[in-house]
Amino acid sequence: MWVLVMCVTALFVMLSHWIYTQAKTRCNGKLPPGSMGYPIIGETIEFFSPYSLHDIPPFVRKRMTRYGSLFQTNFVGRNVVVSTDPEINHFIFQQEGTSFQISYTESFNEIFGQQSLISYHGMVHKYLRNLILQLVGPENLKGKLMYEINEATRRHLHSWARHGTVDIKEVASEMIFEYFAKKLISYDESKASRKLRENYKAFMDGLISFPLNIPGTAYHACLQGRKNATKVIKDIFEERKKSTTPHQDFLDLLLEEVRKEEKFLNDAIAVDLVFMLLFATHETTSSAMTLLIKFISDHPEVLAELVKEHETILRSRDKEDDEITWQEYKSMTFTHMVINETVRLANIVPGIFRKALKDVEVKGKFKFLMIKWMVFD
Ligand SMILES: *[C@@H]1O[C@H](CO)[C@@H](O)[C@H](O)[C@H]1NC(C)=O
Ligand SMILES: *[C@@H]1O[C@H](CO)[C@@H](O)[C@H](O)[C@H]1NC(C)=O
Repeated sequence: MWVLVMCVTALFVMLSHWIYTQAKTRCNGKLPPGSMGYPIIGETIEFFSPYSLHDIPPFVRKRMTRYGSLFQTNFVGRNVVVSTDPEINHFIFQQEGTSFQISYTESFNEIFGQQSLISYHGMVHKYLRNLILQLVGPENLKGKLMYEINEATRRHLHSWARHGTVDIKEVASEMIFEYFAKKLISYDESKASRKLRENYKAFMDGLISFPLNIPGTAYHACLQGRKNATKVIKDIFEERKKSTTPHQDFLDLLLEEVRKEEKFLNDAIAVDLVFMLLFATHETTSSAMTLLIKFISDHPEVLAELVKEHETILRSRDKEDDEITWQEYKSMTFTHMVINETVRLANIVPGIFRKALKDVEVKGKFKFLMIKWMVFD
């Protein structure tokens, strides 16, 4: 009986909250068409249904057909406007920091933490960007990255060739992870006692899942994975702080920043930055590589053209196994076109969130209030 009463009360509270939020967005300005779905859960379940990496998510496609390139919806407790209109998206990016701001869903905030990097804007973003550019910027690409990645790719390709079949997503992810874990924090998975990559896997699998934090759910495992991985990184960080020998990695640079008098970077942000970078580098790159291989195998004429381009480079060398040069890399026009097209087609990051900071009118037609935006580009 009590359980029932409590349930009814809870439902009532949530329902009134829903009616309240509905009313609030309804009575100000004109919003684009769309459905808010069921009370409370909105259209969350449909939003989280799986979709393929190289296609528009069915959730978006269906609504684009019904309402056009701009529609409103509701998921994980949020009223959201989804834009698939390139012109509007461009407009939003131009207003970054004035009318719109980077924003994430509540579950993202919970996963990443309130102190997380993703909650910083403006200046801080620029600072971190510069820091990251020291790792993967053009200078470094020319100087070191290209040779190192070349070496790693060749080594891994030889090892894949020995196995008959491989799961490209898995082995590509392993390769990139190995490379960047070493580059960032001199971490070697094969020598470490606590496995970092396992935790990242759990983290990744639950990142886009229904935000229900009870044992057994993907979301719960995701939070656990995030916690465990952060702990491993934090321990490495603390240990390094006591050491005086340089490791020639990104962590050296971070510690230098942390030790500065006029410092911006503190320990927590530094650890978080490593966590995010390790995640971003291997997850997105391995997805793109997987898709690239699928596209190439679907289009043999593209493969033939690629082989031609690379064989021409090999033939023009004195010795075939000479180290790759920057000129050679720049001369791979067709290869770069294939990469660009893959990145364009890939749904690596299916959508990004922006929050409207004030009422914004778009195309003189719809008025947007301080509700969340989601941009599909
Ligand atoms: C994270 O740590 C918890 C507690 O130590 C453990 O139960 C869990 O299996 C770990 N998760 C992963 C993905 O290793
Ligand atoms: C690929 O995209 C990059 C970045 O947008 C651009 O600078 C480059 O010219 C493109 N390469 C080719 C071959 O189209």
